[in-house]
Amino acid sequence: MHCLVPSFYYLCLEKNPVPMPRYIAPSILAADFSNLQKDIAMVNSSEADWIHLDIMDGVFVPNLSFGLPVVRAVYKYARKPLDVHLMIVNPERYLEAFRDAGAFQLTVHQEACTHLHSTVHEIKKLGMKAGVSLNPHTPVSTLEEIIADLDMVLIMTVNPGFGGQKFIPQSVDKVKKLKKLISASGSGALIEVDGGIDLKNAGMLFDAGVDVLVTGTSVFTAEDPVSMISALKNAGK
Ligand code: DX5
Ligand code: ZN
Repeated sequence: MHCLVPSFYYLCLEKNPVPMPRYIAPSILAADFSNLQKDIAMVNSSEADWIHLDIMDGVFVPNLSFGLPVVRAVYKYARKPLDVHLMIVNPERYLEAFRDAGAFQLTVHQEACTHLHSTVHEIKKLGMKAGVSLNPHTPVSTLEEIIADLDMVLIMTVNPGFGGQKFIPQSVDKVKKLKKLISASGSGALIEVDGGIDLKNAGMLFDAGVDVLVTGTSVFTAEDPVSMISALKNAGK
């Protein structure tokens, strides 16, 4: 007897496809550090889903941003989960410290981790979501052996280290490759993009399979950041 349930189920899915998540994570690198509480309150009042925090050590990337004290301060006022992006060498030294500072999700760079598998599992053991980030030159295929263990993959759409840079157009094809890898592996990983994201490319990225947009300059330099966040979230709809 041919089992009807699966085909009926997929028929339903086809007729009522599950809407893909559309998350917005404003990057506070572009916020006003002389009045961070005000900008965090703005994000709290908006449709944003996470708050993105860029940790730069001046070694993995040619810039210094901020560290644990700022993460703790943001956590105190944030009403959204903290999405912490580590652009540091040997990130395994600080996993527990970022958990204790309030990180909900911790993303390390593939290029910075000699033992990426154990680092990812350590992040999960500490109770956080585990993300891995790829610099623009690093192919998606480097994640084949670990994709099923990841909660998120962050595709850098600029070379990391600075806000306000120009979006790298080839990133769209890279997102499509990653989407294929995730579907083929049965991984539940979300796809996040970071760098040069604005209303011009947001819709196209969601269509390509992106789940999370990190947005710094486009949000914090907008006349009305709360409306900008809504516009980005609904881009291309
Ligand atoms: C860059 C950071 C990004 C940056 C994004 O290395 O990882 O999160 O702050 O800023 P915009 O949106 O201005 O490119
Ligand atoms: Zn970032």
